[in-house]
Amino acid sequence: MAIKNICCIGAGYVGGPTMAVIAQKCPDINITVVDINEARIIAWNDDDLTKLPVFEPGLDSIVRETRGKNLFFSTDVDAAIDRAEMIFISVNTPTKTYGKGKGMAADLKYIELCARQIAKISKNDKIVVEKSTLPVRTASTIKSILDNTGNNVKYQILSNPEFLAEGTAVEDLLQPDRVLIGGDTTIEGERAVAELVDIYSNWVPKEKILTTNVWSSELSKLTANAFLAQRVSSINAMSVICERTGADVYEVAKAIGMDSRIGSKFLKPSVGFGGSCFQKDILNLVYIAKSYGLDEVANYWEGVVEMNNYQKNRFSDKIITTMYNTVSGKKITFFGWAFKKDTNDTRESPAIQVADNLLNEQAQISVFDPKVDQDQVYKDLNLLNTRDPETNLKLVKVLESPYEAIIGSHAVAILTEWEEFRHYDWNKIYESMLKPAFVFDGRGIVDVNNLKSIGFSVYKIGAGNPVN
Ligand code: NAD
Ligand code: UDX
Repeated sequence: MAIKNICCIGAGYVGGPTMAVIAQKCPDINITVVDINEARIIAWNDDDLTKLPVFEPGLDSIVRETRGKNLFFSTDVDAAIDRAEMIFISVNTPTKTYGKGKGMAADLKYIELCARQIAKISKNDKIVVEKSTLPVRTASTIKSILDNTGNNVKYQILSNPEFLAEGTAVEDLLQPDRVLIGGDTTIEGERAVAELVDIYSNWVPKEKILTTNVWSSELSKLTANAFLAQRVSSINAMSVICERTGADVYEVAKAIGMDSRIGSKFLKPSVGFGGSCFQKDILNLVYIAKSYGLDEVANYWEGVVEMNNYQKNRFSDKIITTMYNTVSGKKITFFGWAFKKDTNDTRESPAIQVADNLLNEQAQISVFDPKVDQDQVYKDLNLLNTRDPETNLKLVKVLESPYEAIIGSHAVAILTEWEEFRHYDWNKIYESMLKPAFVFDGRGIVDVNNLKSIGFSVYKIGAGNPVN
């Protein structure tokens, strides 16, 4: 059976871009991406491609090329399930906020709802692909729901975790380091794996398509994110030592990164990692380890998240202590709110925690981010429930121009590494600020000597011997 119709449940940061690329590379396959969030589907169908719900460089042109031809976005989940031979589950799997495993385990309620929906609707055999990041052994849960609540049709469950990073999603999808597919080691399982291999083979070299058993595939995704986040926490731990000793973390990162056993990627010091994946997936791993009684393993990985929290809090503490131990009533301008550059995603962005800490000290914050709008900033802060929404509205302003945001500020804090920040007119910025004018660079992007020569007091994360 060659796959002719694909349904993807979940039109988010993964479902949208992933399916757009499959549609572009497999023009003979019809793909329908469905979501229960109607506003999201409307945005995916908007003629104005700047309104797509996910901002990713290069995504708009692929959507333009494929949408309405073999790529469709719809809220009609049932019809798309019915038609498809292969169904990707690409829904969110956030950290549980209630009950057993609260604050740690992955909340699988959306996954279960998908499985039940598939079971209810399906009248012929389906291949169900886990695209979402899931705890190891989730495939057996999905299989059990499908087999016990369905119409006696046959299912094969594959694990095909997604490794794209936001901001480079299109590039990552077009040229992945590898594609991982886990399946049952039965004849039917192998046949299903082969169907998915065939799809990716349209553009991914065969040697980069890795097949494993389901459990290895599920666990590899959590492992990859844990290892990547661990590198960031490790270099951030070194950034603290550098600041105390006068060593420079950028020089240290370069020196160790040239060791081919270590490699140069994921060694950028920062105000902390953010994003919807790293913290969630490590906590999930910690929960899994604990549930097997592996406390030492759990503690080891939990340290990566603890280090990250320390780094975020350390940054706001640095701002406060440097500004004469009080930021009460002082205006601090945030350059950046997204969790990294080239995305409009703010989930778990370190900017949120840093802002919350400063607001607790009665600072006033003005925010400028090239891709994040005002509603999102307030939504992120209100979600913390630290103070009432009216207070957030009063203390935080979101501006559409960096030069407007900066007027009358005591300090600039750089929370995201947007390229444009490097090229701003820092003389002009200095002019419109109160003196002494501080810059706190949480992303290591500014030229310290240049800013100092303009007159700024500069703190750059990890750069030893900072503010003069
Ligand atoms: P997202 O929140 O952007 O998108 C998920 C979408 O699923 C939402 O639009 C939601 O409305 C929809 N949805 C939830 N339940 C549904 C249901 N029953 N029927 C139809 N639609 C439903 O999430 P995301 O960032 O795309 O992540 C999806 C999964 O992929 C997660 O498991 C995540 O860990 C994993 N992942 C994310 C990234 C990333 O960079 N964001 C990368 C790799 C893997
Ligand atoms: C991550 C994984 O990289 C990706 O493979 C997975 O599919 C989803 O989770 P993402 O969260 O989108 O991707 O972005 P990533 O580039 O990994 O950055 C995560 C966070 O770490 C960001 O806040 C980023 O700024 C930070 N980071 C990354 C650093 O602070 N330093 C680095 O050297 C790299």
